[in-house]
Amino acid sequence: MLDQLQEIETQTLRRLESITDSETLAQLFRLVLGDKGTLKMILRSLGQLPADQRPAVGQRANEVRIKLEEAFAAREEVIRAQELDRNLAEGAIDVTLPGRRLPMGRIHPANQALREITAIWAEMGFQVFRSPDVETDDNNFTLLNMPPHHPARDMWSTFFTTQEGVILRTHTSPGQIHAMRAFAPEPIRVILPGMCYRYEQVSVRHEMQFNQVEGLAIGPGIRFTDLKGTMAAFARRFYGQDRQVRFRASHFPFTEPSMEVDVECILCDGGGCPVCKHTGWLEIAGSGMVHPVVLRNGGYDPAKVSGFAFGMGVERSVMLKHGIQDIRVFWGNDLRLLEQF
Ligand code: PHE
Repeated sequence: MLDQLQEIETQTLRRLESITDSETLAQLFRLVLGDKGTLKMILRSLGQLPADQRPAVGQRANEVRIKLEEAFAAREEVIRAQELDRNLAEGAIDVTLPGRRLPMGRIHPANQALREITAIWAEMGFQVFRSPDVETDDNNFTLLNMPPHHPARDMWSTFFTTQEGVILRTHTSPGQIHAMRAFAPEPIRVILPGMCYRYEQVSVRHEMQFNQVEGLAIGPGIRFTDLKGTMAAFARRFYGQDRQVRFRASHFPFTEPSMEVDVECILCDGGGCPVCKHTGWLEIAGSGMVHPVVLRNGGYDPAKVSGFAFGMGVERSVMLKHGIQDIRVFWGNDLRLLEQF
């Protein structure tokens, strides 16, 4: 029995040396160490040996098994390396083949614009202030000088919820109340970016969700001319240094006086085109001096401080910059659009 083990060991080790491919290696492994291999058979027949021989043979058989297992593993490594060299030499692996491109996510055009707009306002000293998308009717309307049944509420088609007095904000202006109540009586200079929701029939020009960037500055002696200068400075940074800016009288219940900000059309340079409806001007923001009622609702004394506010549409600005005619593309999930940004 011991001779037999010795024979298996020497023979196997010798044959191993001459093997150069993994298939022959696997065959030999099965032959010797496999379930029905020669060594396994011996190990299994140990029980039939006379008891005094059993320990010696058993020990030897285990030694041989361990030695061979190690030898197989070592040989396998050598063969692997040889096979790789051979494959490379034969060109089976083309190391010059370009790698596979990893699919990479990108930033949605609306978010790109949001970041650009936020960066400009940051440069001008405005901090970002976050306020919730789900609002109370009070913050969205009443405290902005539009009590229940005020006809001006119709300017914003509203999504109501099943909870009385809770709505989706129709504009970012309710954030003014949050910001004022957080800061009063200290001065404020913040922007409030975020999604707004309107109960609209979705069409080329109307979406039921879109981003706005609200702005709010409050402090002693803030004047209408500060608003005009600030809006002009923003418009030139965002739309181009040589852009003309114009202001038009307007009306919002929460600002007095109110004005709309226009920039010279960036597509036709003011000459007139379909995007500016042949007027040469594009409307970019609503704005005005914060109404005394609103200041008081926010916790300020209108006798001591004044302030201005504005609100601009984000998707709108992207449409203007890129001549996009259909607002539905923003939330339409069409990769053909998204991959262009
Ligand atoms: N909230 C207004 C709107 O959605 C815009 C606005 C903001 C106007 C702040 C004046 C001051 O149309």
